[in-house]
Amino acid sequence: MSKDPIDEGLSMGPLVTFEGIEGSGKSTQIGLVRKFLEKEGCPCLVTEEPGGNPLGEEIRRLVLNRGDLQIGPLTELFLFGADRAQHVVEVLRPALEEGQVVLCDRFTDATVAYQGYGRGMDIGLIEEVNRWATDGLVPDLTILLDCPVEVGMVRSRGGDRFEREGYPFHQRVREGYLRIAQQEPQRVKVVSGEGEQGAIQEEILRILRPLLEMR
Ligand SMILES: Nc1ncnc2c1ncn2[C@@H]1O[C@H](COP(=O)(O)OP(=O)(O)OP(=O)(O)O)[C@@H](O)[C@H]1O
Ligand SMILES: [Mg+2]
Repeated sequence: MSKDPIDEGLSMGPLVTFEGIEGSGKSTQIGLVRKFLEKEGCPCLVTEEPGGNPLGEEIRRLVLNRGDLQIGPLTELFLFGADRAQHVVEVLRPALEEGQVVLCDRFTDATVAYQGYGRGMDIGLIEEVNRWATDGLVPDLTILLDCPVEVGMVRSRGGDRFEREGYPFHQRVREGYLRIAQQEPQRVKVVSGEGEQGAIQEEILRILRPLLEMR
């Protein structure tokens, strides 16, 4: 099933994922990067998980917005896995093969952080589900927007199933994300999400530029 990385060629657009707790500023920063890329005439696609494809939108609604449904931890993991498998095949791979820069709001690290560190599920199992769901697609760069849970909670609207989880859950998620960054410092760059939006954007573009110049 896996593709030969050599066959995939250097013209593949980079996949850049944005991670971080609720309210850390992912959507805001992705919007600013999109504006920058559009001004530069650089073809880009902005997408998100869960969601980013018609089936994924349905899964997003189920997992995030249906507080009335019981969803066990393993079911939740598989729903995110199902969303990801479809998103990779239907959206991410085709856009990357066209050479677009893909900006994805949450990806594999979110599952490790939320279901693994947050819910306490086995990290090995989650990595296995991620490997199947992505068919080996790994981000070229991951921007981890890090901010204290208190800051994120004040900023986010607090409506979905995860936003309703308490402080300790989100603290575990934040620490989980930071541990991922420690383990994969080449791929995952930690950017403070606490400062002023423009300053955060400059920092992100400084990290992103070398990747764009390689193309
Ligand atoms: N650096 C910043 N300083 C102050 N407020 C900010 C900053 N970045 C974003 N915000 C505001 O905080 C709120 C949440 O930001 P945003 O939606 O970008 O976060 P997010 O990480 O995408 O959250 P979620 O995970 O819930 O989608 C928004 O109202 C946004 O305008
Ligand atoms: Mg967002």
